[in-house]
Amino acid sequence: MTNTNDFRVAVLAGDGIGPEITPPCVELLERVQEMVGGFTCRFENFEAGAALYQRDGNALPDETLKGAEAADAILLAAMGLPDIRYPDGREIAPQLDIREELELYAGVRPVRTFPGLPIPLANERAQHLDFVLLRESTEGLFASRGKTEMVGDDSAHDRLTITRHGSERLFDYAFKLADKRKSAGHPGRVTCVDKANVLGSFVFFRKIFAERAEKFPHLEADYAYVDATALNMIRSPWNFDVLVTENLFGDILSDAGAALMGGMGIAPSADIGDKHAVFQPCHGSAPDIVGSGKANPTAMYLSAAMMLDWLGDQYGSPEAIEAGALLSQAVEKSFAAGDLVPHEMGGGNGLKDITDRVVANLQG
Ligand SMILES: NC(=O)c1ccc[n+]([C@@H]2O[C@H](COP(=O)([O-])OP(=O)(O)OC[C@H]3O[C@@H](n4cnc5c(N)ncnc54)[C@H](O)[C@@H]3O)[C@@H](O)[C@H]2O)c1
Repeated sequence: MTNTNDFRVAVLAGDGIGPEITPPCVELLERVQEMVGGFTCRFENFEAGAALYQRDGNALPDETLKGAEAADAILLAAMGLPDIRYPDGREIAPQLDIREELELYAGVRPVRTFPGLPIPLANERAQHLDFVLLRESTEGLFASRGKTEMVGDDSAHDRLTITRHGSERLFDYAFKLADKRKSAGHPGRVTCVDKANVLGSFVFFRKIFAERAEKFPHLEADYAYVDATALNMIRSPWNFDVLVTENLFGDILSDAGAALMGGMGIAPSADIGDKHAVFQPCHGSAPDIVGSGKANPTAMYLSAAMMLDWLGDQYGSPEAIEAGALLSQAVEKSFAAGDLVPHEMGGGNGLKDITDRVVANLQG
């Protein structure tokens, strides 16, 4: 990658609350860019999603895919609407097509709690969580999407795919991430989460994990079954550092991670490949709250902060990294006093209140 500080960002607002939380997010990005200086983001909007499919019969136009491919980073809000489906009954999910097309194999799902926000676990240690769930995002059980084998009306078969190539790049990413976190004071431990006690595909997954772990002898390589991990995410999540797992397991566990943080509207994410990356909140299009003003934009803002950090890291722009940190700190500070509580957590604050507070904290 060549160094640059002039970035093209493809913006995909998508469906449901996506178009509500995207414009203020872009405004925040423009604001931090102006405050820090030394880098520019040029935003280009593209259409994709279930509503577009309903209108035009195509959820992911070529122009959007090409625009995303040409961009340095992709900022995506949410896609999909439960009532709009393909004729076979599956939902429209262009965000998954983008992950597969651009080979965004590392689904980074940070689980970090913010003091001041109500969270479901009472234990004091749960107030200070900081771990990362890494979800493989191009294969696993999701590789069977659209390829379900139906045997008459008697059975349905989906195939779980684990490849050496897909697993090696995922585990290398996990160990490098743990290494970076270790320099920031974390334990430097990667836990392979699987079901190797039952399925041969996961025995293979584990074997490759052990092989790649040998390249990182200064880091701890650990193993856990997915069911035990679900238990420990509730019982003692403060013990985790980096968890790495298959696509569907990661899909499920990342919602549990969002719950540990207080709600879907808080949890950011990134889907990262060798050349491209998408940054988007963990949540979906939240059709039940569209137009109510109750959408919590925090996950979107934190995903945008992750994008700046990644752009800076990838293209050698310390200013972009600084801007990402500034945005993330402004979000964290917004909740510190405990008087700003999103609707989804039983409070009375929505999109406008949260955005106003983040803007105020950026300036102050
Ligand atoms: N990455 C994505 O784009 C993505 C992820 C998950 C679901 N989906 C799609 O989104 C649609 C709705 O799915 P769902 O209802 O299962 O999940 P969802 O995440 O949209 O909503 C689950 C619950 O969390 C709440 N919620 C979610 N985000 C919120 C926010 N920012 N602020 C406040 N509350 C929030 C919703 O109101 C709802 O009660 C479906 O079509 C689904 O396929 C898309």
